[in-house]
Amino acid sequence: MTPIKECLINKKTNITPIWLMRQAGRYLPEFREIRKVNTNFIDLCLNPILSEEITLQPINRFGFDAAIIFSDILMLPYGLGQNVEFKKNLGPNLGKINLDNLLIIDENEFTKKLSPIYELLKNLNRNNKLKNKDLIGFVGAPWTLLVYMINRLSPKNGLSEEFFKDLKLIENLLMILDKFIKIHIKNQINSGATMIQIFDSWAGLIKNNYDEYLYNPTSSLVEYTKSLGVPVICFPRGISDYTKFCEIVKPSMVNIDYNVNPKTLIDKIDVPVQGGLDPKVLLTDKDNLKSEVTKYLEVFRDHPYVFNLGHGILPETQIQMVEDLVKIVRNYK
Ligand code: CP3
Repeated sequence: MTPIKECLINKKTNITPIWLMRQAGRYLPEFREIRKVNTNFIDLCLNPILSEEITLQPINRFGFDAAIIFSDILMLPYGLGQNVEFKKNLGPNLGKINLDNLLIIDENEFTKKLSPIYELLKNLNRNNKLKNKDLIGFVGAPWTLLVYMINRLSPKNGLSEEFFKDLKLIENLLMILDKFIKIHIKNQINSGATMIQIFDSWAGLIKNNYDEYLYNPTSSLVEYTKSLGVPVICFPRGISDYTKFCEIVKPSMVNIDYNVNPKTLIDKIDVPVQGGLDPKVLLTDKDNLKSEVTKYLEVFRDHPYVFNLGHGILPETQIQMVEDLVKIVRNYK
């Protein structure tokens, strides 16, 4: 059994498994090499040879306990026919949506468009490099995908009233997203994903309507993934009440963000926990890293815990700090 599964199933806590969100990315010189000559990000995600290489880069370097496939949550709107581009210094930039077109997309067409992602998973399973490691597939949560599909840019400055002006569109999109996110989860599992993570990066922007935008749509995906016999990790970044979220949604494990105080959470949570460390700590120094990492390890000493960050690793992170991080976690007794 993989270390993470052991942690989830046996609730065993004498070793702490570790992997990092965005571990396959720009902080790695070997990733930047590939990226330099592959300027179209979507094409890179649809290239199973290169995306396999990128997925394995952090595994080869640091020996993490899980590989997360090199892909993006925005491959789903791409699969639905929405134009998706990544522009330097701007981030994702999506095209206008056409609801009539979205309503007639069928499962085969969608699966065919995203087939290189499923091929990537099959190839990773074929080679033996992931022995005793999990292979994590992922999706964006309906709310976060809705935000990108309607806002068409990262909502860095929040959402305007304008966002909610067409409630019928929102309702239709949530229905379409539930259907196709499930198809994407099923396809990833059938291709060899041993675990699914649901990224709800903009959950913190939900002000009311928690049932409609957070609890109901996420519960639907959690139940579905569990019904396929695969554990599911939720990352509802920025919400104020992780305890309530876990009681309602019942994920196999929850990834906390760096604003959560682990000390006050620990007494109120009974699902396994992942993550928490502020990625900015990796931009400081080794002594500070050690004391911050140890805080999490101590608090979760008797609780099933997978080491990870409270959001993705930052592009400016030094390799040495990641090496130190892995050592600190592996040597903790
Ligand atoms: O290593 C891994 O975690 C696997 C790959 C992965 C990527 N994106 C690759 C990527 C994963 C799991 C994601 C998830 C993702 N994508 C999320 C949820 C997690 C989070 O960070 O909140 C979101 C919101 C996206 C959408 C997205 N993709 C944004 C906002 C950006 C641009 C932001 C930025 O950092 O510039 C991307 C691009 C992206 N996705 C990169 C990578 C490695 C950077 C691409 C580049 O080289 O320019």
